[in-house]
Amino acid sequence: MSHLEIKNLHVAIDGKEILKGLSLAVNQGEIHAIMGPNGTGKSTLAYTLMGHPHYTVTQGEILFKGQNVLELEPDERSQLGMFLAFQYPVAIPGVTVANFLRTAINARRRVADPNDKGISIAAFRKMLTEKMTMLKMDPSFAGRYLNDGFSGGEKKRAEILQMATLTPEIAILDETDSGLDIDALRIVAEGVNALSGPELGVLVITHYQRLLNYIKPDFVHIMLDGRIVESGGADLALHLEEQGYDWVREKYEEVAA
Ligand SMILES: Nc1ncnc2c1ncn2[C@@H]1O[C@H](COP(=O)(O)OP(=O)(O)OP(=O)(O)O)[C@@H](O)[C@H]1O
Ligand SMILES: [Mg+2]
Repeated sequence: MSHLEIKNLHVAIDGKEILKGLSLAVNQGEIHAIMGPNGTGKSTLAYTLMGHPHYTVTQGEILFKGQNVLELEPDERSQLGMFLAFQYPVAIPGVTVANFLRTAINARRRVADPNDKGISIAAFRKMLTEKMTMLKMDPSFAGRYLNDGFSGGEKKRAEILQMATLTPEIAILDETDSGLDIDALRIVAEGVNALSGPELGVLVITHYQRLLNYIKPDFVHIMLDGRIVESGGADLALHLEEQGYDWVREKYEEVAA
């Protein structure tokens, strides 16, 4: 059985169907990339996986570790090991990066053990310094309000810092590469690679083959009009880079129509 299993997923927003029967299975240790034209529903899939209330699942199933995810609240999905790095991270003025992460870690520990006293400040600082060093983030970021005034690239790095801190079992990265300069792209990709391993499944949503030079996907999927229409290996992304999406649209125009 796959770690994450999405079966015939249909999702609507405000009564409009966006995902139209999407199926995908991601096992532990696998990296899957999803590519596709703007507006095909990639972020809709990401939000639906995490349980965003605006997205209504009208048909289909999402199973993670054998559990029906659709019955779970977003925080319960996170507890179960799911993580989403947002395409557009939201600022939380008044909450520092360090406080945010410590609260998240402690909330998680308390679910495992209701009597847990929380991570010690010393242990937390050590862990945070390690992860921030890995992502080449300036230590001063820990004391800044989360995403408040962060540049586009800094927000993306902060998302990966959250991933590094929460150590999920499935990580969904929605255009984490967008807005990153070339050095930051490499650093963020190295961060993801450092976290990858036999336990972690990764779903990267991206428009650019370039990211996949750093984060090597086992599978590449093309989304069109709310469905996955083509799946292949890393070479499929290279093919897209050269050919664009016209051939996909032509091949599946009855789908898109
Ligand atoms: N709240 C909403 N109300 C109405 N339509 C919405 C809403 N959110 C998303 N949509 C529509 O759903 C479709 C899919 O959007 P989505 O953000 O999932 O696309 P995407 O594949 O992530 O695109 P991009 O590559 O530009 O990030 C779009 O046509 C979008 O306009
Ligand atoms: Mg999107």
